[in-house]
Amino acid sequence: MTGGLEAVPERRGPAKPLLRVLGGESVAPPPIWLMRQAGRYLAEYRAIRAQAGSFLALCLDPTLAAEVTLQPVRRFGFDAAILFSDILVVPYGLGQAVAFEEGVGPKLEPIAGETDLSRLQPRELIGRLEPVYRTIGLVRRELPAATALIGFAGAPWTVASYMIEGGSSETYAKSRAWMARSPDGFQRLIDLLVEATVAHLCAQAEAGAEALQLFDSWAGALDEPDRRRWCLEPAARIVARVKRRFAQVRLILFPRRAGKLYPEFARIPGVDAVSLDSDVDPARARADLGGRVALQGNLNPRLLVEGGPAMRAAVARLLETMAGTPFLFNLGHGILPETPVEHVRELVALVRGQAA
Ligand code: CP3
Repeated sequence: MTGGLEAVPERRGPAKPLLRVLGGESVAPPPIWLMRQAGRYLAEYRAIRAQAGSFLALCLDPTLAAEVTLQPVRRFGFDAAILFSDILVVPYGLGQAVAFEEGVGPKLEPIAGETDLSRLQPRELIGRLEPVYRTIGLVRRELPAATALIGFAGAPWTVASYMIEGGSSETYAKSRAWMARSPDGFQRLIDLLVEATVAHLCAQAEAGAEALQLFDSWAGALDEPDRRRWCLEPAARIVARVKRRFAQVRLILFPRRAGKLYPEFARIPGVDAVSLDSDVDPARARADLGGRVALQGNLNPRLLVEGGPAMRAAVARLLETMAGTPFLFNLGHGILPETPVEHVRELVALVRGQAA
């Protein structure tokens, strides 16, 4: 060994821990935020939600949406805020009728095939979603200095499935039928959504989002060749286009239940992190993907509902497995509405090594 007397120059990344991890640093304790961290498990959310009337009205009211975005940060001190919005604001912005029915979920006026594509209005999108970008500006002004702001969009396949099925689906029968009947026609819808998603993500970056997450919640519903064509390829195009315009913005992909294709998502040039679903074995993911990108995840949201020794053991295991690699603590999917607030508080303390 030589020298050793010179001070090691400290690598001065951005101050926000979440952005340091997304830049490839391992940070201890790992930053934590939770998917769907704003929502019905919080009494203060339910109060604002009642005040707003409809869910979509809440998403499109910058003052209320900013308030709801900030609620979980104030309550738990998360390392990131995620914009309060929904993946289905994009179909809304394209002119499709979208409503959220209490206890039922989203309802859309379904698109049946190629001929319906001409009814969509891509040029209206950014104007119609202008309140969303104003929300980002409001949130940035209120956030603590060390807290990052994450924007997001749904990935083309997941959003297309809602647009075609008219809501949540168990089988995706209509989407699969369209894909099989007319792959070229289905490609046109996916291409249109790639454009819309790039525009929506870039507008969020422009407004002040520092990281962007692409949610492909239903990637696991497709078999491998379809998952490549309708999930992997569109994600790669979106990442390339957003990074070309916003080189500094960090990109997180969440190809939920992508299974064996996770490594291919992690190899997409420009991807900064992949979010692991709860089916993924963390040690395996670290071996296969760690070093290439930061990893995010993947505590089972059911364990957060359950709490107690099972949750504590799983958290300890996950922290141990990911120690020394760039890692963001999160769930494997969104927080469930029945989650006790006390369990969330305990989780944050456990991750930060501050548990009683
Ligand atoms: O993470 C956050 O706190 C930010 C807000 C956010 C919401 N939806 C708010 C929401 C985010 C990131 C989403 C993403 C989203 N929306 C996804 C991808 C992530 C995932 O969970 O898989 C999907 C598939 C949707 C579509 C969607 N929105 C569904 C299926 C539903 C109904 C089911 C449900 O949970 O109610 C929604 C409504 C929705 N989006 C709510 C919230 C807080 C509940 C609506 C209400 O308050 O009445």
